Amino acid sequence: MSPSGSFWVGSVPCLSLGLLCLLGVSFWRAHWHRGFSWDGSALQFNWHPVLMVAGLVVLYGYAVLVFRAPFTWRQKKLTWKLVHAGLLLLALLLSVLGLCAVFDNHRSLNIPNMYSLHSWVGLCTVIMFAFQWLLGLSGFLLPCSPLWFRSNLKPVHIWMGKAILILSLASCISGINELLFFTLNGSSGDPYNSLPVEAKFANSLGLLIVAFVLVVFGILSNDNWQRPETVHESVPLMLNENST
Ligand code: HEM
Repeated sequence: MSPSGSFWVGSVPCLSLGLLCLLGVSFWRAHWHRGFSWDGSALQFNWHPVLMVAGLVVLYGYAVLVFRAPFTWRQKKLTWKLVHAGLLLLALLLSVLGLCAVFDNHRSLNIPNMYSLHSWVGLCTVIMFAFQWLLGLSGFLLPCSPLWFRSNLKPVHIWMGKAILILSLASCISGINELLFFTLNGSSGDPYNSLPVEAKFANSLGLLIVAFVLVVFGILSNDNWQRPETVHESVPLMLNENST
């Protein structure tokens, strides 16, 4: 099969799993926890998982794959760099909004901040993501960035990009688990260890998120979907807008 044909075979499960994760997390918070509002209450907290999964997992996962789509290889790299940076900026904004939802909810209900392992790993992930975005902007999009900086930054950028996705996965899994312990063990209903329907649903959501991240890594590690580099692409942006 051509790289183009096999890419679409790989990307359809990726697109569908991403959408399923988003639908799953929204349904969980709407069906079992009374939906959404922005008033400091538990309904405001419900935005936190939805926005984090939307921004740091699904949109982030789609954004890291844009250079792998063979139909983009005939087009200017600069266009796709702007699409990549734009989607990632949106993902960053959604995740910052997701953090505002939980910090605001904790402030209005007098719940302590930053005590859990989930919150520590989560905050490190968002800080690393913001740092990576700024570094990427200065290294790959600013015309004045020197060639030595670009070429040294590229492997670091690729490593950090993958690390952020792994940390996002760890944050989501720990967040889902923590939330199930809080809500099921603290309520008068069935406890977590009796595996009520909500626990089955949220555990399955965790597995869907794992599957989505594994598919993204599968696509990233396939050499057939690597954008072919041309000699001109290593020349700085001011001279050639197809550059790295
Ligand atoms: C990449 C995804 C995520 C990141 C970066 C993240 C980050 C954070 C941070 C920094 C806090 C601390 C807020 C505070 O102390 O006021 C927090 C709290 C919380 N998050 Fe997440 N989160 C993510 C996803 C999720 C998901 C998917 C869930 C559940 C479905 C979740 C459940 C919670 C809960 C229950 C708290 C409050 C308790 C605590 O502070 O640990 N999070 N999150």
